[in-house]
Amino acid sequence: MVDKFENIDMIEIITKKRDGEKLTKDEIKYFVDGYSAGEIPDYQASALLMAIYLNKMDEEETVNLTQSMRFSGDTIDLDSIKGIKVDKHSTGGVGDKVTLIVAPIAAACGVPIAKMSGRGLGFTGGTVDKMESIPGFKTTLEPEEFLKQVNEIGIAVIGQSGHLTPADKKIYALRDVTATIDNLSLISSSIMSKKLAAGSDKILLDVKCGEGAFMEDEEKAAELATMMCKIGKAAGKETMAVISDMNQPLGRAVGNSIEVIEAIDTLKGRGPEDITELTEKLAGIMIFLGGKAKTKEDGYELAKESIKSGTALNKMKEFMERQGADVNVINDYSLFPQAEYKVEIKAEKSGYINGIDAKIIGIASQHTGAGRAKKEDEIDYASGIYIEKKVGEGASVGDTLAIVCGNNREKVDRAASEARKAFKIGENSPKAFKLIKKIIEI
Ligand code: URA
Repeated sequence: MVDKFENIDMIEIITKKRDGEKLTKDEIKYFVDGYSAGEIPDYQASALLMAIYLNKMDEEETVNLTQSMRFSGDTIDLDSIKGIKVDKHSTGGVGDKVTLIVAPIAAACGVPIAKMSGRGLGFTGGTVDKMESIPGFKTTLEPEEFLKQVNEIGIAVIGQSGHLTPADKKIYALRDVTATIDNLSLISSSIMSKKLAAGSDKILLDVKCGEGAFMEDEEKAAELATMMCKIGKAAGKETMAVISDMNQPLGRAVGNSIEVIEAIDTLKGRGPEDITELTEKLAGIMIFLGGKAKTKEDGYELAKESIKSGTALNKMKEFMERQGADVNVINDYSLFPQAEYKVEIKAEKSGYINGIDAKIIGIASQHTGAGRAKKEDEIDYASGIYIEKKVGEGASVGDTLAIVCGNNREKVDRAASEARKAFKIGENSPKAFKLIKKIIEI
């Protein structure tokens, strides 16, 4: 049952925002509660969203919008877990298998990880789909089992369950069809409402920027990251953000089982350079936020050490075993689902790789069967794209740039002709770029 507010009227709320005025906390709550309860029709909600899109919300309004959405459904209570629980969120990337690496590293360093992850969305993959490509892995646990596992082994990662932030689900779906996605307050409140409802004490955000991300330029990504850190702080949860590059896929594997294999390789100390650098930094910050390192720099060292000593890989094994997976996959990758077809993309000219459009690769990977076009589509876990040549590397005519794999020949061929267009080869080596552009703490 929605709270009734005296003297609040949806037409007045729309009028105020249309005229560039500030909305009160009660007006925002009236809209969020009323819309999620079905008492405010889509046409009024759409009008308000467009007014917000055009006239923006300030920080206070954005915090109030987030809090109303956060409490629109269930919230997770992690108080029975000892220690400072740290959550991590990525704004979505291509080849982003970071959670599968940083979660066991942070847990191995004593930071409790009680995490809910999502499925793939559009051309960006999701951790839950990746975990489900591991034979036997269960991504649903009863709440008591989830809490018990974190208390006993320090880590549990499951799919989003329960009735979390229903207002965000409804508002997001409406934004998607009313051209109101791309707004700072609407994006930041959507992400942070879910993170706050998920119950951890502190939050680390990996905000991607570049062609394969929501925010194409660094300035906009920093603005989004700063707003989300402020929302976290206002809710009493320390929040930090890293702005990282998404101008080419992260690592070399894009798909599901091939990304898990790359994550395991990284935990063995032999992952691609970019994934290794990013995950050591992110895990290091989580260790710092979780109170297990005095400084971020100490955190980075502890993260590195956990890989060198094998404790992070052991934690991954323990975590997989506890969630029902066949842990033999760690030493025998042939136990993962295998692709029947593999098509190589060859270089048609010699030079240096100047760019790999992450969005094109993400979409092509989705078309191999690694992602869904519709919610009910089945995933082909073995499919995806393996990048042989990354930005800055040299290639001669005939060299393999990427291998496109899957179990449906037609899909693989189509994806290969799409993925070919992602590679830009120039005569000269491209300018060096920074993978981690900025760290934001407020
Ligand atoms: N991710 C979300 O969860 N919400 C947005 O609005 C954008 C990205």
